[in-house]
Amino acid sequence: MRPVASLVTALSAASVVAAAPPLPVPGPAPPKDVNPFQGKTHFVDPAWTAKLDQTYAAFKQQGDKVNAERVRKIQKSMSTFVWVSRMSELSNIDNAIKAARQARLRTGKKQIVGLVLYNLPDRDCSAGESAGELKSSEKGLERYKKEFLKPYAEKVAAAPDLDFAIVLEPDSLGNLVTNMGIEFCAQAAPVYREGIANAIASLQFPHVHLYMDAAHGGWLGWNDNLPLAAKEFATVVSLSNNITAFGAKGPGPKKTNKIRGFATNVSNYNPFNALVRENYTEWSNSWDESHYASSLAPFLEAEGLPAHFIVDQGRVHLPGARKEWGEWCNVAPAGFGPAPTTTTNNTVVDSLVWIKPGGESDGQCGFPGAPRAGAWHDEYVQMLVQNADPSVYA
Ligand code: BGC
Repeated sequence: MRPVASLVTALSAASVVAAAPPLPVPGPAPPKDVNPFQGKTHFVDPAWTAKLDQTYAAFKQQGDKVNAERVRKIQKSMSTFVWVSRMSELSNIDNAIKAARQARLRTGKKQIVGLVLYNLPDRDCSAGESAGELKSSEKGLERYKKEFLKPYAEKVAAAPDLDFAIVLEPDSLGNLVTNMGIEFCAQAAPVYREGIANAIASLQFPHVHLYMDAAHGGWLGWNDNLPLAAKEFATVVSLSNNITAFGAKGPGPKKTNKIRGFATNVSNYNPFNALVRENYTEWSNSWDESHYASSLAPFLEAEGLPAHFIVDQGRVHLPGARKEWGEWCNVAPAGFGPAPTTTTNNTVVDSLVWIKPGGESDGQCGFPGAPRAGAWHDEYVQMLVQNADPSVYA
């Protein structure tokens, strides 16, 4: 006997067919909510892969052929973001554009280039390891707009044949949500807001997809912080609507600036899908980055912001590596995380990406012998190779 449920389904399916609307009339397509990573190759940065030659040589010297070959595989296909962390690094954009165009010619595949925009005045106001070159007390905000944002925007605007995913100012707004007790952060707050609002206003191009930094699950993912974070992001996006690109404030034509979404876990170590729920995550619903994205999404939507994410999996700690969630500096043991992919099994997540290039230090902390932030640390990257997620070598 057929179960009743299928009979009901069959009947309702029939009535749906009978009531089908007339065929749609051709016309302008409604604006689409497209994942910018879909159908494109995540750009592989030759400036980063070249650094791994040293790692290859080190494994060879140790007689470790298996890991040496793994390094070669990473060099061939793993995409990392290109950081522009000071004025003198603006040329990193030119180099990335040149290399991405060559890759497209060579492979025939469209490229999406990941960039990080990271040079706010009074940068890294709480941790300090990545304090930047600009100070608000020395006209830093003016210089940021004119000497950093303007050329940054001009360079990407001149390459409409490529797509760019740009992460805006890691850690900055997270500090505004939770670190207002630190005087330097409190002082930096209006500077950060105005700086990021200017970055958003300056980078409004159809081939440029902006992801504001949303820290990580262990920082803004707690129930109390989620609504505060969403409000802070909304404040900055709406501030950007009153800004004419390149810094000149003015009433300007009424416009609504667009961002694609949010970047999480930048330079942190949280897994996207945790195998083990660590004790330090306690009652948090954001106990891995997939859960964090899902927890933050409704708060973003309530503020009228797009709930789309990219998640840094450049380095992921191994289960049990940290005693506290707050450990962020050259954490060990860790490995390269899952390879960049748009297959995320979470509809709010556009892509897993490698934003922090593995091997570049977080600062002189954590792992013994770690050099200053950004400097190469081969011993550390050898560990990342040995502990990498299997998808990296698949
Ligand atoms: C450093 C930057 C560097 C970036 C990527 C940051 O911690 O401050 O100088 O470009 O990491 O490695």
